[in-house]
Amino acid sequence: HAHIDHATPEKVAEAIAAGHTHAVIPDYETYETYAAAGGYTRLRELRAGGDPEGVQEAVLASGLRGLGGAGFPSGRKWSFVRAEPGPRYLAVNGDEGEPGTFKDRYYLERTPHLFLEGMLIAAWAVEAETCFIYMRDEYPAVLEILRREIAALEEAGIVEPGYIDLRRGAGAYICGEESAMIESIEGKRGLPRHRPPYVAQVGIFDRPTLVHNVETLYWITKICREGPEILASTEKNGRKGLRSYSVSGRVKNPGVHLLPAGSTITDIIEACGGMLDGHAFKAYQPGGPSSGLLPASMADIPLDFDTLQPHDTFIGSAAVVVLSDRDSAREAALNMLRFFEDESCGQCTPCRAGCEKAVKLMEADKWDTGLLEELSQVMADASICGLGQAAPNPIRLTIKHFPEEIS
Ligand code: NAI
Ligand code: SF4
Repeated sequence: HAHIDHATPEKVAEAIAAGHTHAVIPDYETYETYAAAGGYTRLRELRAGGDPEGVQEAVLASGLRGLGGAGFPSGRKWSFVRAEPGPRYLAVNGDEGEPGTFKDRYYLERTPHLFLEGMLIAAWAVEAETCFIYMRDEYPAVLEILRREIAALEEAGIVEPGYIDLRRGAGAYICGEESAMIESIEGKRGLPRHRPPYVAQVGIFDRPTLVHNVETLYWITKICREGPEILASTEKNGRKGLRSYSVSGRVKNPGVHLLPAGSTITDIIEACGGMLDGHAFKAYQPGGPSSGLLPASMADIPLDFDTLQPHDTFIGSAAVVVLSDRDSAREAALNMLRFFEDESCGQCTPCRAGCEKAVKLMEADKWDTGLLEELSQVMADASICGLGQAAPNPIRLTIKHFPEEIS
């Protein structure tokens, strides 16, 4: 492992040339630095006599919603889990697999303790017996940082050895679906479960389990330290809060951009320094491949939870990809379906056979839109989990917004 300042492409290249092929560990805020600046004081205070309901009220007042992508009100999950008899577990979904999403990695490679403290606050609130962190194995630097910093927490006496159980994913997109992740934590193949029951009632080893995304926990620490206003005080286009947009594609400065939750794609492109020279804005993916593509003419929609539903899509984990006049919307949509075909767990026919069939139909010069619409409906209605249910979105939105490319 190499130690370098933040992992710029040049530094990564240097480290690889020096023989460090596994992970390049960026400079990050260690336990020592974090604790010296007051880190873990809030956790200690809460453990010494805090009121979980008071913390839950603050989380609800902040408006924080699940930042894995579904936007479920974070505070509400705590009462579901607390209502069940113990033992209870906490599981962190760090399997950030949505193509274009890299915000969790961004925060973990910089300030891992804002996440770890939030996890321990949530674990305190629901009296979790163990915290499982399910971390994407494609993030070797993050795994190494977490190994070191969990050891530092054990050494400092903040957690008992073994209280935080770091698990590695193995590259399956579906293991980011929370019930498949739980199967995987239990040592089984990652097949999504039917819901209900929800994992809050029947989770790891059938015990009530609180599942949060990494970034959600990062904000829980911030809310506990700085108050709900840290999110609630920002307002734009009628939307409250902040959103970490992972932006890639044809913009000058791609990366994670923390902006008001009511930002439009126009604001986001501007925050990225504009389009690359010689590229004209043509289309965008608002939130991962399952959100499909919207045309540049729809550039004034605030990109937040709930605002995209009227347009048959959603913000998800805010993985924004910007396409230009040099890109083909139909090729992008086909690429998305090929991804779902590869990543479908195969458990149910509408998704397993549907993705394969959709790819074949989309490879034709002219799309059979009637058949594709019918297939999309079956997949959306009859698939077990979100993968199969949302996989038709790129098909439907391409038919609707880019008809000239497919006929
Ligand atoms: P969901 O809306 O079904 O559930 C969201 C969360 O709320 C879950 O933890 C669920 O257990 C809980 N929940 C919902 N209703 C509940 C109830 N009545 N009682 C108790 N708990 C309840 O959404 P899902 O399928 O978990 O997530 C879909 C999202 O995941 C999509 O929006 C997509 O954007 C995102 N996603 C993110 C990825 C990433 O890398 N961050 C990868 C793939 C998808
Ligand atoms: Fe598996 Fe797809 Fe069915 Fe989900 S919808 S359970 S990924 S086959």
